[in-house]
Amino acid sequence: MFKKVSKAFLATAVTMALVAGSAVAGPIVIKFSHVVAENTPKGLAANKFRDLVKEKLGDKVVVEVYPSSQLFGDDKVLQAMLLGDVQMAAPALSKFSRYTKQLQIFDLPFLFKDMEAVDRFQQGADGQKLLNSLSKKGLIGLGYIHNGLKQLSASKPLRVPADANGLKFRIMASDVLAKQFEAVDAVPLKKPFSEVFILLQTKAIDGQENTWSNIYSQKYYEIQPYITESNHGLLDYMVVTSAKFWNGLPEDLRTELKTLLDEAIAYGNKAAYEKSVNDKQRVIDSKRTELIELTPEERAQWVEVMKPVWKKFEKQIGKDIIDAAYNANQAN
Ligand code: LMR
Repeated sequence: MFKKVSKAFLATAVTMALVAGSAVAGPIVIKFSHVVAENTPKGLAANKFRDLVKEKLGDKVVVEVYPSSQLFGDDKVLQAMLLGDVQMAAPALSKFSRYTKQLQIFDLPFLFKDMEAVDRFQQGADGQKLLNSLSKKGLIGLGYIHNGLKQLSASKPLRVPADANGLKFRIMASDVLAKQFEAVDAVPLKKPFSEVFILLQTKAIDGQENTWSNIYSQKYYEIQPYITESNHGLLDYMVVTSAKFWNGLPEDLRTELKTLLDEAIAYGNKAAYEKSVNDKQRVIDSKRTELIELTPEERAQWVEVMKPVWKKFEKQIGKDIIDAAYNANQAN
């Protein structure tokens, strides 16, 4: 009798444990980690994705967004993704060089004349192929999010390249960006995004390059007395996931998630355009910094000294694809 009861008890306990187990397994969790503020193109795209997934797939998938380097900085996030500690991120295209040299194309100074050209290239055959450039490393590119063109901020006015001589600039972890600043005899320092404000504030560095959205949301304009509207380079992102995670999802769910992500990216890209205008105006209205607009002759000098950087990376990136990107400047 005792034996029988204990068997029944055991069976109930096992059933309860299984139910509890499946409850614990619950919906699939996608941790989306990024380094910027929430009210930025990438921050808004990530939050939109979270909200769309909640609305459409809430019982099956939950997206948790971790902004402002709360979970991982961009130096660690891809490694963490391969270990399964985070499922999505969207680092700047400048931050993939440990995984592929091909994406260095997006850092070439003065390659794209405007964001329409960037869009034409990214959505064209070559840009779409680059989404697969991380496949050998176990990562999948799911799409591009725009931020915009970069401006230079500094402790002194930068009108011509010689003005940057000897100044220390924070750069993202990119050899192209290092060469770009060496071309104007400045000193590039690769530092994480989360440290930039304090480095500027303590004058450990003299300047940095970033978009209007980041200059505004990180308050660089409060501590950098000059901003040169140079539009000299691009800051865009690739949304990435690990092949192991993504290919392990049921196919219908994967398709649905991709559709929702595309919608969120479109939302972020619209915000990117608006912020390139509105955040710039907010910076100007603050009167905390002086906006330097270059004359065509001054700008030509920056182009002349920085453009030779392309040649140094032509072998690693490929001349054909550089030509294709350059040709995207011409609308069809
Ligand atoms: C930076 O490090 O300056 C940017 O990559 C930050 C970002 O994600 O926009």
